[in-house]
Amino acid sequence: VNSNKYFRFNIKNVERAQEDLIALWAFDHGASGTAEVLPFQQNPEDYSVATLSSELFHLDIFFEQAPDPELVFEFRRRWPLFPIECLAEENRDWMAEWKKGFHPFELMDGIWIVPSWTKPPPQSRQVIWMDPGMAFGTGTHETTKLAARLLGEALRSRPGARVLDVGTGTGILAFLAERMGASDIIATDVDPEAVRVANENRELNHSVRTRISTDSLDSMQEPFDVVVANIIDGVLVALQTDLKRLVKPGGVLILSGILDERLAGFRTRFLTSPFQIRNEADMGEWRAWSLEK
Ligand SMILES: C[S@@+](CC[C@H](N)C(=O)[O-])C[C@H]1O[C@@H](n2cnc3c(N)ncnc32)[C@H](O)[C@@H]1O
Repeated sequence: VNSNKYFRFNIKNVERAQEDLIALWAFDHGASGTAEVLPFQQNPEDYSVATLSSELFHLDIFFEQAPDPELVFEFRRRWPLFPIECLAEENRDWMAEWKKGFHPFELMDGIWIVPSWTKPPPQSRQVIWMDPGMAFGTGTHETTKLAARLLGEALRSRPGARVLDVGTGTGILAFLAERMGASDIIATDVDPEAVRVANENRELNHSVRTRISTDSLDSMQEPFDVVVANIIDGVLVALQTDLKRLVKPGGVLILSGILDERLAGFRTRFLTSPFQIRNEADMGEWRAWSLEK
């Protein structure tokens, strides 16, 4: 037995009606688990990941120890219509591998994002420590970079600003605001994992001016100098009344997460009044807006 390897039967074009039979058969022969390989897509309306329904799907069956080679032949005799292959795969620590690829980089103006397990480079003027866990927001995504750029612009002319970061993920934009001199930052998210990670990063960064919150926007009253939201466009549209209400007159609303192919629809659905668009920034297929009240 090689504990660094596991074995996988990959079976294609399985009919829904056969799924249970195949799974039972596999468990009878020492399988430790099965998984459907489902096609999926991200739903831009509500941030959910929707699986696409389909009649035929691919099935993975996992074995911790090498299965009897006879088993593949038996499968072919019983289910001749579904192509099967047996693969030996390396057991990997995906998190450790991913960590190797996440390096310090400058987000803006000498402010560096530094993974919590590495050292800050000598040229960094200020550091934001990051352990992203499973939350969104290492700073490498275009939507984050766009939001960071527009947030930086807004804060340079607003020292001591009060900032609201909606959909904070790892907390990255909140900590950027703090490093750039914001006096009081509220960062919210609906995902409990994001809230947990953001709180951890808050400690890593010795943050004293950022509060991570699960309060919904409609329960908030006091307006902010700057509101930033990097969420997919459908959510920005759904939240627009509160996002706009929570900006002080003279304040700035930053919206990121708009896909170019959905920009036309976003323009008709997000009513900018009483704001004026000050900046439309783009990177790759992503667009972001900075609006002033
Ligand atoms: C694209 S990530 C942005 C993370 C980080 N702010 C950044 O810029 O890298 C969007 C985040 O919004 C959160 N989110 C989705 N719907 C939300 C809602 N209705 N209210 C608040 N947060 C939401 C998600 O859980 C996710 O963490």
